[in-house]
Amino acid sequence: MNIDVFTLFPSWFEWFTSQRHVANALAHGSRLEAIDIRAHTPLGGGQVDDTPFGGGAGMLLRVDVMDSALRAHYGVDAVQVRSTRRVIALAPHGRVLDEALASELAEERALTMLCGRYEGFDERILDHYASDVVSIGRYVLSGGELAAMVLCDTVLRKLPGALGDERSATEESFSAALEGNPEYPHYTRPAEYRGWRVPEVLLSGHHEQIAAWRRERSRERGARTQGRDGR
Ligand code: 6GU
Repeated sequence: MNIDVFTLFPSWFEWFTSQRHVANALAHGSRLEAIDIRAHTPLGGGQVDDTPFGGGAGMLLRVDVMDSALRAHYGVDAVQVRSTRRVIALAPHGRVLDEALASELAEERALTMLCGRYEGFDERILDHYASDVVSIGRYVLSGGELAAMVLCDTVLRKLPGALGDERSATEESFSAALEGNPEYPHYTRPAEYRGWRVPEVLLSGHHEQIAAWRRERSRERGARTQGRDGR
């Protein structure tokens, strides 16, 4: 997987890519490059944003600035880029990221992510350069960078070698093996702590009973409308 992230804050990604699980994924044949949008601006003084037509609060990333950055990096007209790779703009109103979308994107050879700032993007960026608009939930972040990291994390961990191949066969939350349900609860030693005992069946060594118990708990979690405490 080859990921290019266009951002006004490329240094944020130095921290992200140096974290061990991300670094491992990258060491197994993936690449993540953070491209500084500001470095390519055609405007004076490093300008990248402007006030919205019609008035209103905040600043928008300019379409001409995004155009220059894409053109400079790929060496083609910016509108052509999305015909060769998915170009994902991160914005709060986009398609909400879930396991299905993460799996779909993990199949791609290359991804481009566009991070807006301030109040977001001039709409023409989404209309003409993006192939997808993705959100990580119905709340507002001050920019797309954290959302891009979330998206990178969930996609990279699906790639072969990212977590060690033994993991790929296991039942993960929301996987087909669990019928799309969340994962069952896990326990480790000590078997009893402050009087809190691990469910007896998990200590029994009865593999079929354990598998049935886990399926049941996973279904329960999937069926339940989650309460305020997430249980
Ligand atoms: Cl992708 N961007 C911003 N700015 N806020 C968000 C988001 C994205 N997803 C949820 N909130």
